[in-house]
Amino acid sequence: MSTTNQTRRPLVAGNWKLHKTIGESVALVREIKTALAAESRCEVVVAPVFTALAAVRDEIKGSVIKLSAQNVFWESRGAFTGEVSALLLRDVGCDYVIVGHSERRQLFGETDASVNKKVKAVLASSISVIVCVGESLEERKAGKTLQIVSSQVRSALDGLALDHLPNVVIAYEPVWAIGTGVNAEPEEVQQAHETIRGLVAKQFNDSLAKSTRILYGGSVKPENADLLMGQPDVDGALVGGASLTADSFIGIVKAAG
Ligand code: 13P
Repeated sequence: MSTTNQTRRPLVAGNWKLHKTIGESVALVREIKTALAAESRCEVVVAPVFTALAAVRDEIKGSVIKLSAQNVFWESRGAFTGEVSALLLRDVGCDYVIVGHSERRQLFGETDASVNKKVKAVLASSISVIVCVGESLEERKAGKTLQIVSSQVRSALDGLALDHLPNVVIAYEPVWAIGTGVNAEPEEVQQAHETIRGLVAKQFNDSLAKSTRILYGGSVKPENADLLMGQPDVDGALVGGASLTADSFIGIVKAAG
């Protein structure tokens, strides 16, 4: 299913990963806030580390910038030392949570099943989710990109209610493109996004598929943002390295429209 992205509001999210102190996070978001127009067609989201969420929330109050966490646990309370629930993320002011990032899958043992539980917990807490999928280099070399991405999307969205879908954003992030400086070719990205949209149509319905935003992530920079986000099924970007300085992040936001 191929569509046009004119009808969907673009979204650019900065995933700051394990970078920046509270002070550095506030300084960065202040710069971004100052550079952004009061009205932006593009939705702008920042995802600082947990310890900086409250301070960034205070800094973006009254601006167009929205707050995201980078991870969550699926239980809402209990004996789960070190975990943070979706309820607590809502309590601190998060609008979004990133779930299933490839770094979580690769380094912290997250599986399709745990990603699905997290997605459900986030949506049940009235927060939006940015759920990440993407193939590894080996899977790509074996020609399995679309197969892997499809199975990750299917299980991430398994069992969701129709009325939860408007709060779901999908991010296609090929693992080999993350932090490498090598982005996927726009045509490859379009093909993956079209496949994902088709799956949403099959699993839910056409109209939800047409309104679901699908972001690309993996070495997005101001120089390649135009071309990547110019693809009909690319509705924005999930940005790592280039979101750590205001200039490059704003360059990407501007390219999104
Ligand atoms: P880079 O933009 O640094 O490649 O990271 C992408 C990413 O992992 C965003 O979640």
